[in-house]
This record gives sequence, C-alpha cells and structure tokens, in this order.
Amino acid sequence: MQAAVRYYSRSGNTKLVAEAIAKALAVSAVSVDSPEAALTEKADVLFVGGALYAYGLDKHLREYLSALDREKVGKAVIFSTSWISRHSIDLIRKALEEKGVPVAEETFYVKNRPNTEQLQEAADFARKMLD
Ligand SMILES: Cc1cc2nc3c(=O)[nH]c(=O)nc-3n(C[C@H](O)[C@H](O)[C@H](O)COP(=O)(O)O)c2cc1C
Repeated sequence: MQAAVRYYSRSGNTKLVAEAIAKALAVSAVSVDSPEAALTEKADVLFVGGALYAYGLDKHLREYLSALDREKVGKAVIFSTSWISRHSIDLIRKALEEKGVPVAEETFYVKNRPNTEQLQEAADFARKMLD
C-alpha cells in the first residue's frame, strides 16, 4: 500500500502533524508549495492537511487541491489544526470531492499546536487508516 503526505502550514502546527503521520508510515511529509509536491506515482492513501485562516484555506492548499490528478489518488484522508473551528476539514473535503477523489470519513484534528501525546495519536491514526 503506497501512502503519501501533503500539507500546507503557515506556522508549523499542521506541519508537526504531517511529520508525525509521515514518520509513522516511513514516507516524507511534503509541503504543497514544494517542487516535489506533485504525485509522481499513484498514492493508494493520500493524507492531506491544512489549517483554517479567516474561515478559509490557504491559497497554496486550494491551488494544490484543484490541480490534483484524481487518477493518482486511491483515497484521501484529511488532517487539520485550528484555534476552534473544524471548518478547514469541510473545505478540504469539498475540494477533494469536487475533484472526484474518494475521502475517508475519519479525520484527524488538533486544536492549535500538537503536544507529544497528540503526535503519537496522529501516528496511530495514520497506521490505522492504512490497515
Ligand atoms: C491569520 C489567521 C487566521 C486564522 N483564522 C482562524 C479561524 O478563522 N478559525 C480558527 O479556528 N482558527 C483560525 N486560525 C488559527 C489557525 O488555524 C491555527 O493556529 C492553526 O493551527 C495554524 O496552523 P499552521 O501552524 O499549520 O499554519 C487563524 C490563524 C491565523 C494566523
């Protein structure tokens, strides 16, 4: 089973979750604004993370999702961080569904900066979603 992790993070909170997920799956966490962000091989499970900014997604993530090649993704799994609202999850889900990408019902969310325990939970979640 091939997994990939893509995220966008302005201040590092979502990046920490992305890295915990990636480490658990022995893959790299790649920021969507990196030259390596495009999927070269099909990902059976694509973990996609982003945060909420003024009730919206960052432009980098929006653009990445709208350019995503549906044929390269088996299923997407969403993770997110924010102060309060989980609306980022809804927005990421909507963008993926608009591309025709199947999205797992289960998501992973942390309020603000993840602590060590939450990063462990992120790793456990990632492994569970690959079973
Ligand atoms: C400019 C800005 C706007 C934000 N707007 C919201 C918001 O509307 N709702 C919310 O719950 N959190 C909001 N947040 C909090 C971020 O979603 C939260 O700090 C998140 O963990 C940041 O993730 P990052 O470190 O990966 O960039 C905002 C943060 C910033 C800097």
